[in-house]
Amino acid sequence: MSTDFGLPGRVAIITGAARGLGAATAELFARFGAHVVGCDIDGDELEKTVSGLEGEGHLALAFDLSQPENCESLVAQTLERHGRLDILVNVAGIIERIELDEVDEAAWARTMDVNVKSQFFLCRAASEPMKKAHWGRIVNFTSQAAHTGGFYGTSVYAVSKGGVVSLTKNFARLLGPDNITVNAIAPALVDTRMVSGNMTEEAIDNVTSAMPIGRMTDAAEIAMSVAFLASESAATITGHTLDINGGLLMR
Ligand SMILES: NC(=O)c1ccc[n+]([C@@H]2O[C@H](COP(=O)([O-])OP(=O)(O)OC[C@H]3O[C@@H](n4cnc5c(N)ncnc54)[C@H](O)[C@@H]3O)[C@@H](O)[C@H]2O)c1
Repeated sequence: MSTDFGLPGRVAIITGAARGLGAATAELFARFGAHVVGCDIDGDELEKTVSGLEGEGHLALAFDLSQPENCESLVAQTLERHGRLDILVNVAGIIERIELDEVDEAAWARTMDVNVKSQFFLCRAASEPMKKAHWGRIVNFTSQAAHTGGFYGTSVYAVSKGGVVSLTKNFARLLGPDNITVNAIAPALVDTRMVSGNMTEEAIDNVTSAMPIGRMTDAAEIAMSVAFLASESAATITGHTLDINGGLLMR
């Protein structure tokens, strides 16, 4: 396999691309020659990230992906611009730390809508052009919380990420015959705003000290795993959840 993972010329939708893991994935894919369609609810930050990408043919599309019609518009506008869609990377997600007693229907809907529902509608919409091309790669972002059940205050987040593991397997079964693979990545701790905004230094140290590798993962390291799963070399890996967790949990 060449070091560009076969990405030159591929058209890739990457959600949550304004910052964090989505931005790191967009940067790596652009560096390897993909045409990135970055999507995020934060249009200003998305514009900055996409305008700084290497190469040409990138697009910044601001959408709130909790709305299914926006998921469909994202795929439709990608096809209008490029005429094809090879790769979908579902990174966008939120975490809200809420005491169990305070979880209400609105909080439940906010997390499920972004973390699971958007991935469902994007997988479904993206699969149509991929089926026609008889080639496609989908990578969904879940979390170690899907396996551990999360911590106090993250019950809904953990359930949403468990849903991502199930939907990944479901679409992997449905789309395999069309030569489309569907996998998930389950990070433990990556130094993004999601972590710095929700965890103290002490809490981070407690988790990393329980890891055999003993440190957080870099966003760029996660992006390399996404690129591998999107490559031709990963053609028979599907329905898999890849743990990237410093050995915190060995399943
Ligand atoms: N950082 C970690 O340690 C970690 C660990 C486990 C799982 N994850 C998962 O990785 C993914 C990326 O996390 P991150 O750390 O980069 O977080 P982040 O908060 O830095 O980035 C998330 C991005 O998603 C975007 N987004 C949120 N709601 C949206 C919506 N409705 N429509 C469109 N975009 C929306 C945000 O604007 C933001 O740019 C998430 O799914 C997260 O659950 C992260």
